Amino acid sequence: EAFPKSSVWDAEDLKATFPKRNTFAHKGSQGKAVIIGGQLTMPGSMALTAGASLKAGAGLVTVATIPEIIPIVASKVTEATYFSLKSDAGILVESDLPDMNGYDAIALGMGMGRNSKSEALSYKVLHEKAPIVVDADGLYHLKQFLGVLKERTSETVLTPHPGEMAMLLDCEIKDVKKSPFALSKKFATEYGVYLVLKGKYTVITSPCGEQTVSMTGNAGLAKGGSGDVLSGILLTFLMQHGSIFDAINNSCFIHGKAADLLIEDSHTTTDLLASDVIEGLPRVFCTFI
Ligand code: APR
Ligand code: MG
Repeated sequence: EAFPKSSVWDAEDLKATFPKRNTFAHKGSQGKAVIIGGQLTMPGSMALTAGASLKAGAGLVTVATIPEIIPIVASKVTEATYFSLKSDAGILVESDLPDMNGYDAIALGMGMGRNSKSEALSYKVLHEKAPIVVDADGLYHLKQFLGVLKERTSETVLTPHPGEMAMLLDCEIKDVKKSPFALSKKFATEYGVYLVLKGKYTVITSPCGEQTVSMTGNAGLAKGGSGDVLSGILLTFLMQHGSIFDAINNSCFIHGKAADLLIEDSHTTTDLLASDVIEGLPRVFCTFI
């Protein structure tokens, strides 16, 4: 599919839409986020999403995950707070949640595993009213109850890679790659969600079918963990931008641009890691906003 040049989100769009931080800002005004996911075999995903969310400017970040990995994540992310969810032999299962009225946005699914035991927890979280980013294994759970998307009263952002998109659509990955715009539009408008179809070029679609493309990023991002970093940035910007569509476009632009600036000098696509991308965010902020 060809796409119109006018739909590419660029540095000027970023500059025009990125919210200015008020001098009288306090942590409450910058957004309180909760990240729900993780399991014993994937502690890093929680650290990457929380680290990226904080580096992108969130006021407060709570990581809600199984108790076994809290010390591991906390040793990597000093500034987050933690809430213990229920573990069944290292797998995150249905549990009591923290007081969800206290949060401005939710991220669900990173490092959660596709275990059906975790599905009920995803179902419960998707019924919460705050805006939500659903990624990775959260998307696999969501597939079992897609109808919940139509009941949600606040914004839902789904961030599938082509494999996850094909899973949601019951089609082949090659079909997704052939018609990313048409398939994204059909899904986003049918379910009333913002869809971020990730890849070399990331296609962003609003619930009314408006579409843009993010062209930043490079092959250094083709490594486990890059998606978790994007989810963290998205989580923060959702709470701070007036327009969700702008928030998503700026998140994708900045995530890719951080990787691009890093491989200009200090890194290569070979060695770039997701955690380097978090460390690279300040350079994007200093240069582009
Ligand atoms: N060029 C530009 N950007 C790229 C490239 C590339 N060649 N390759 C990847 N990216 C970007 C994508 O656009 C996206 O933003 O890196 C990110 C990769 O995200 P994911 O595919 O979700 O990768 P990952 O971090 O490994 O996901 C972690 O979630 O998707 C599941 O199965 C996955 O369990 C794994 C977990
Ligand atoms: Mg992913």
